[in-house]
Amino acid sequence: MSVAHRHMPSLSAWLHLSGFPCWLKLVLAGCHFHCDVVCYVHNHIFDDTSLILRKGIRHYARQGDRVLDLGTGHVGLLAVYCARAHGAQVVAVDVNQEFLENARLVARASQVPDIDFVQSDWFSRVEGTFDLIVGNIPYVPSDRRQFLRHVNDYPEVWDGGSGGTTQVRKVLTDVHRFLRPSGLFLMGLNVDCVPRDTILGLIDSSEHIELQTTLKSLISRSEVYVIAASNQA
Ligand SMILES: C[S@@+](CC[C@H](N)C(=O)[O-])C[C@H]1O[C@@H](n2cnc3c(N)ncnc32)[C@H](O)[C@@H]1O
Repeated sequence: MSVAHRHMPSLSAWLHLSGFPCWLKLVLAGCHFHCDVVCYVHNHIFDDTSLILRKGIRHYARQGDRVLDLGTGHVGLLAVYCARAHGAQVVAVDVNQEFLENARLVARASQVPDIDFVQSDWFSRVEGTFDLIVGNIPYVPSDRRQFLRHVNDYPEVWDGGSGGTTQVRKVLTDVHRFLRPSGLFLMGLNVDCVPRDTILGLIDSSEHIELQTTLKSLISRSEVYVIAASNQA
């Protein structure tokens, strides 16, 4: 029996596999994320990692914070939520230009046109430092194709490479350089895809970052790792 089958189906699996109507996902994006999804590129609107990241943002974001959303996606969901619900100044990056153009339209419709959408390979074109960095980084191992079915045309949405950690490793290598002294990085992952010990090992092996706490979900196996720049860095 595979690891995924030992647990209850996660909310995202249910959303994607049960034929959950797209219009209902759009309504939920409006209610939960204050995001008016007037247009989209593919039908992945949010998942349970986005939901637990929202919980982290609600807890840690402060009015006026400078926030970076890593991998904002085609609707810029977390970026819109940070700007609209928490009055943050948001920079939102993605590698896919088509996603960014769509997210700009969504942000305008959601009354937060000031979000700075930047095409960037993670931090390659990011400038300055941030109070809060959030990221739903692709973490599905490349050989777990069944997870990727619903976004086959856009593998960059979920494909985390070998063991699901290729993109996570890149982000963890550089994130400390973009955090303000009391800044935090909220990294969302699903432990059915990347085991918790692997994630903790990656964080622990970096001299530049340290884990402050972990946020868990009541409805899924997605977790948020709350990471700070280490004092010795
Ligand atoms: C799992 S989706 C997250 C979307 C959205 N933030 C959410 O929570 O629903 C991951 C996003 O990371 C983007 N991405 C993948 N590789 C990237 C890279 N090298 N640099 C920046 N963004 C990347 C993908 O295009 C995709 O939009």
